[in-house]
Amino acid sequence: MASIPNEFIETLLDRIDIADVVGARVTLKKAGKDFSGLCPFHAENTPSFTVSQQKQFYHCFGCGKNGSAIGFLMEYEGLDFVDAVKDLAQLAGMEVPMTQYAGQQKHKTNLYAATEKAARIFQQQLKASPQVIRYLKQRQISGQTSKTFQLGYALNEWDGLIKRFGADEQQALAKTGLTTQNDHGRVYDKFRNRLIFPIHDKRGRVIAFGGRAIEADQKPKYLNSPETDLFHKSNELYGLHLARKHSNEDHVLVVEGYMDVVALHEKGVCNAVATLGTATSAQHISNLFKVWDKIVFCFDGDNAGIQAAEKAMITALPLYLDNKIIEFLFLPEGEDPDSFVLKNGKDGFLAAIKMAKPLADFLLEIISRNININSIDGKAQLYEKAKGYIRQLPKGAFKTMIAQQIGEISGVALKVTNQPTPQQKKPETGENPLRKLISLLLNTPQFCENLSNKLNLRALSFKGIEIVDKIIEIQHNNPQINAAAMMEHFRDSEYSPYLGHLMRMYDHLDESQKALEFEDILNYLNKLTSKAEIERLRNKQLQSGLNSAEKQALVQLLRQKSNQ
Ligand code: UTP
Ligand code: MN
Repeated sequence: MASIPNEFIETLLDRIDIADVVGARVTLKKAGKDFSGLCPFHAENTPSFTVSQQKQFYHCFGCGKNGSAIGFLMEYEGLDFVDAVKDLAQLAGMEVPMTQYAGQQKHKTNLYAATEKAARIFQQQLKASPQVIRYLKQRQISGQTSKTFQLGYALNEWDGLIKRFGADEQQALAKTGLTTQNDHGRVYDKFRNRLIFPIHDKRGRVIAFGGRAIEADQKPKYLNSPETDLFHKSNELYGLHLARKHSNEDHVLVVEGYMDVVALHEKGVCNAVATLGTATSAQHISNLFKVWDKIVFCFDGDNAGIQAAEKAMITALPLYLDNKIIEFLFLPEGEDPDSFVLKNGKDGFLAAIKMAKPLADFLLEIISRNININSIDGKAQLYEKAKGYIRQLPKGAFKTMIAQQIGEISGVALKVTNQPTPQQKKPETGENPLRKLISLLLNTPQFCENLSNKLNLRALSFKGIEIVDKIIEIQHNNPQINAAAMMEHFRDSEYSPYLGHLMRMYDHLDESQKALEFEDILNYLNKLTSKAEIERLRNKQLQSGLNSAEKQALVQLLRQKSNQ
């Protein structure tokens, strides 16, 4: 959404009707307050695809795809964001404000020109650097593979790159993050005396770089481009442009290092990508699931590897739909995919992948770690721990199965509400109130108006609380905004894959029921915030004493509490 003004997108999504846009391409039938039909994005015989006019949002319960009319056109017609907006604008008789867009495009074109030029220069310099070629040889990387990945070399100079760029190109060069400035304002090359790994977007354009130290004492071992207008590392994966050509493979491998991807490719394993010195993000997972139905995470077998795997699993849980598969391959201690494939060859590596651990097994392992499941205490602990994880899973067969297994081990049945009942009783506000709050605010942005003064959310340090702030701000600027337009604001956010799923949490309720639910959650959150505030004040009282205003606040809070 960066290039077209938000206000335009909001007006557009207000003028068109998603039911018309989808209805022109998919046969829809009225089903209650929504429309339903056969999902155009996966094969099915019974409809699990729904279109909500009220939210202006579509959702498939089968494959999990969801979005606004813009998202639908992008997915259905294979358009990029701007073209989808243009198509819809035409339908609505509106003109996309292109001047700003043209300016943005020009800016990006200049940046791409700079990154592409730099990549070419690095590549040429590698060809003229026998010691770097020797380094690659020693790591068993062939000339062909170097070429495929456009590997390069950054000279051991402060301005090796800068002096190859004209005066009119310097600004763009700086904006790509290839140069840095010291405290005295002097500009110099960021990458010096390093083996260069250009990072490509999924279309194969160079957007950033990674550089590996060549000398043993050179620190850090890897240096990466900073975030720029072209490069958001929670969104990009190293090697995806090449791996995508192997979308017919039944899985994609996610590894940790540049060299892992390159070495695997060298040995004929071409469906691997690497995260870029960050944890796996929801966006990563969601992007990969667009191409493959199965992700195999490949981590070192040491503690750090297991921790990274656990993090990746937690990120993946809300996105783990029944038609998707995630597995974890733990390599022997001290090995990474690079060293492992060099030692054991392609066949050895493929054999190892066959032994990868399914997510369910890994999840059960994590849940029961350090718990003695033979004791009553242990069973209770297991049950509590399991609830937290299972709550994150989308509704479906997998969730039911995991819950059953936990039930068998702990001897306590876990309730899984797979079939939403239309007349739901009071909500269990105890479970993840923030997710519920966000879901309701996305569904009906106008609820924000009841929120502003009533809640001191800052007192709670929930992860993701900034989303609530953002939603409130957006609704404040456009009070009539609908759910789909609200979601469009988060298109490029790391949270967007989650938000799509959160949107459907209350699909079974009508507006007045949602309002009741909203009130319950506010009450609950208010209790939580006062509790947190009481605790804060009491601590302060013990440590440094309270001033009179604080004392009064504490008394008031305690009085409120006793009235509840
Ligand atoms: P590793 O330290 O595991 O290196 O970092 P590696 O992949 O085995 O590299 P080689 O084989 O020694 O050449 C894995 C990834 O973590 C990031 C890089 O993306 C790297 O590929 N990393 C590592 C950094 O960003 N900075 C560092 O200093 C080290
Ligand atoms: Mn390595």
